[in-house]
Amino acid sequence: MVRINDVRKSNLAFKLSGHAEGLVAVFVGATSGIGMGTLKQFAKYAKAPKVYILGRSKKAAAPLLDEIKVSNPEGTFEFIESEVSLMRNVDLVCDQIKANEKKVDIVFMSPGYLSFDSRVESVEGMDIPHALRYYTRLRFIYNLIPLLLESPNPRVVSILAGGQESAIDINDLEVRNNFTFFKAAANGTTQTTLAFEELAKSYPSISFIHKYPGFVNTGVIARLLATAPGLFYYPAQLARWVVLPFINLISTSVDEAGERGLFLATSARFPPAKPKTEFAGVEVQGVPVAASSVVKDGKGNGVYRLNADDESAAESPVLPGYRLDDVGKTVWEETQAAWDRALERSA
Ligand SMILES: NC(=O)c1ccc[n+]([C@@H]2O[C@H](COP(=O)([O-])OP(=O)(O)OC[C@H]3O[C@@H](n4cnc5c(N)ncnc54)[C@H](OP(=O)(O)O)[C@@H]3O)[C@@H](O)[C@H]2O)c1
Repeated sequence: MVRINDVRKSNLAFKLSGHAEGLVAVFVGATSGIGMGTLKQFAKYAKAPKVYILGRSKKAAAPLLDEIKVSNPEGTFEFIESEVSLMRNVDLVCDQIKANEKKVDIVFMSPGYLSFDSRVESVEGMDIPHALRYYTRLRFIYNLIPLLLESPNPRVVSILAGGQESAIDINDLEVRNNFTFFKAAANGTTQTTLAFEELAKSYPSISFIHKYPGFVNTGVIARLLATAPGLFYYPAQLARWVVLPFINLISTSVDEAGERGLFLATSARFPPAKPKTEFAGVEVQGVPVAASSVVKDGKGNGVYRLNADDESAAESPVLPGYRLDDVGKTVWEETQAAWDRALERSA
């Protein structure tokens, strides 16, 4: 477990280190919730950063943009308005970033929403929440890899459900058959870890972090319960109005989740398999390197499956078998095929 005091020490050490200057970061899903908390912390502690913020409405994000500009007058914060559940839009946004930047240091992703609705297809034929939790995020990473490779200490963070991987239907990764929210969420979670492990083999200078944030008071659960169908609607509303307020009292605040988000993006606890330079994040006494998802001959693969307290999750019951069967390779190939199908539909 990493205590919040150590997280704060690390974030302060990041600010005081020579490494907080001139970072380029891409935030996807930071107009609210955990991403927003992390963006605010990043703006507070980074020196003269260049930050790209992806969201659907610049108007809605105006107060947030004003706030971070005040907290970091030397920073450049560029809001790009885009519906990133479409792969075509992810490509356009990444082209824009690539045209302007020589490197990207941090890609922090938390877009999405939870819903009991049945499959909600985009014009590209993907279920929108499933795209946001997996296909969009991986597409950002894939497109930005050339820029990440130019960073001395590149890092990718996906806030989803690291450590909660479960058995998935590898013949239906896009969840086209017998769709349920739970099946889609499980697929996205397991695919994220397997795809990260696959990417880490090819790009060992990048750290890949897949975190389960625990229960963070962002309103996400209230919005999920509001979508409960049929007879489930009434117990869900009871839970929403009677039980949830008590759970909210013990949940993590957005600010604290943001402090942990900055820690993930900057701490030496999460080095890549092959760091490019001696600096692979901010070191703080008492905060050791986390266990990678795969360790061979004492060397980690630079992929981290994290619990809410930023401790590495216990090994999953399914991942060892999937690794033996090379399911990660299949997932990665199928991910690219799904992107191709989506892009064909929007061509
Ligand atoms: N909060 C928790 O307790 C919790 C627990 C476990 C897992 N998680 C996971 O962690 C991630 C972040 O959670 P959060 O609670 O911080 O999320 P959140 O605040 O509800 O939403 C994050 C972002 O998702 C974007 N978004 C929502 N609907 C979208 C759509 N249809 N198209 C494009 N973008 C959309 C929003 O950006 P725009 O509206 O600006 O586009 C928003 O900034 C999610 O994947 C969530 O499932 C959260």
